[in-house]
Amino acid sequence: MKTESREQLQSWLRDTLPQQTPTNPRYWFPLTLPTYGVDEISEAIECMVDFQTSMGQRTRQFEQAFANYVGAADAVMVNSGSSADLLLAYQLINPLNPRLQPGDEVLVPVVTWPTQVWSVAMAGLKVQLVDVDPTTLNVDLDDLRRRIGPRTKCFFAVHLMGNPCAMDAVRKLCNEYGLLLIEDCCEALGAQHDGQHVGTFGLGGSYSFFFSHHMTTMEGGMVTCVDQHHADQLRVLRAHGWSRGLQNQATGAAEIDSRYLFVNWGFNLRPTELQAAFGLHQLAKLDAMNARRRQLAARFEDYVAQRPALATPSVPAAGTSSPFALPVMLSGDLAHRRGELTDYLEQQGIETRPVVAGNLARQPAAAILGDLDPTAYRGADEIHQRGFYLGLNPAFDDVLFGRMLDTLDAAIDHVSSTTHVRTAA
Ligand SMILES: Cc1ncc(COP(=O)(O)O)c(C=O)c1O
Repeated sequence: MKTESREQLQSWLRDTLPQQTPTNPRYWFPLTLPTYGVDEISEAIECMVDFQTSMGQRTRQFEQAFANYVGAADAVMVNSGSSADLLLAYQLINPLNPRLQPGDEVLVPVVTWPTQVWSVAMAGLKVQLVDVDPTTLNVDLDDLRRRIGPRTKCFFAVHLMGNPCAMDAVRKLCNEYGLLLIEDCCEALGAQHDGQHVGTFGLGGSYSFFFSHHMTTMEGGMVTCVDQHHADQLRVLRAHGWSRGLQNQATGAAEIDSRYLFVNWGFNLRPTELQAAFGLHQLAKLDAMNARRRQLAARFEDYVAQRPALATPSVPAAGTSSPFALPVMLSGDLAHRRGELTDYLEQQGIETRPVVAGNLARQPAAAILGDLDPTAYRGADEIHQRGFYLGLNPAFDDVLFGRMLDTLDAAIDHVSSTTHVRTAA
């Protein structure tokens, strides 16, 4: 696109886009708000105007910038965080370099976004769900150790709500039992343990750029990896099993046209160039957006510290969280009154959610995983019954945030002053 046209486009976007962050019509304190603007939109339009919409140079540039940001050897962009999880799982059983055999077990925390779990099951591996610690929302290390059996080969960690797992202990345990480590960082971009970004502790990490996440490409995801060889394997799995775009060019039999050289099986999980255009601009804004998230989350923690019936997750000593949302655990008089509290908040215009799927073993789809005893996950049940979260977004201003805290106080007063009718569990 000509410089002059770009300037005209950007000027038109500046006039056309709302001056203030658009609000959500239903909630004045929503889960999320848009964080993109003129830069992202104009570059995405530029991709279309230049007829460069399918994965290309911008995607590669974004992959490299992202890998640099988190300190990984390389990164491979995909069309969602779920696709990133799928690639991590399929990389374990890559037919050309299988690390695991069908039926080998992978440990996955029972409180997570379900596609982390499905990706393992879809790859023909056995999911062994592990309980979580309700005080951190992350894996319960004792239960992790307990569930390791002769066929356990891998731990697929998740850093929930931006809270990093205690990676020193996780790594020690994986080394002790010879387990591979992969990480779901879809809710934790920017979180670190001992100064090291999550997603760089094992074979690879997955990230999501869905609208509400730390940065957005509308839909999108990324996988980090340990070396170029690994990155190339992921690129082949990402796109049809095709050799196109590999850093180390594959060679085939002489009679095969190298433009259509297929070297493995694969999916089509490619992002568009428009998503990468978004990603480049969002990555440049990430530190500022995360700093604002941290500031608001710290204010929330101060508030919660004064209210004995509320708790926020504790962060490991060497950890730095990258708050994704504002998770809360209820206790004392409010322990069994989550529904009443969140109903009140919703009626008042504050959006709420449970802590993702809660105890996943209680979800109908868990039947896919075989015979599971949902009562075997006591920590997860605590979160299932007593946990919820509120939104967090860098565009929330201090006044809006203060109003949310006042309304939360009103909700607590309202619930505390009404009689609790105990319903059957
Ligand atoms: C922990 C976790 N893993 C995976 C995903 C999947 O990401 P996506 O929505 O981009 O597919 C999410 C989505 O929110 C998530 O929270």
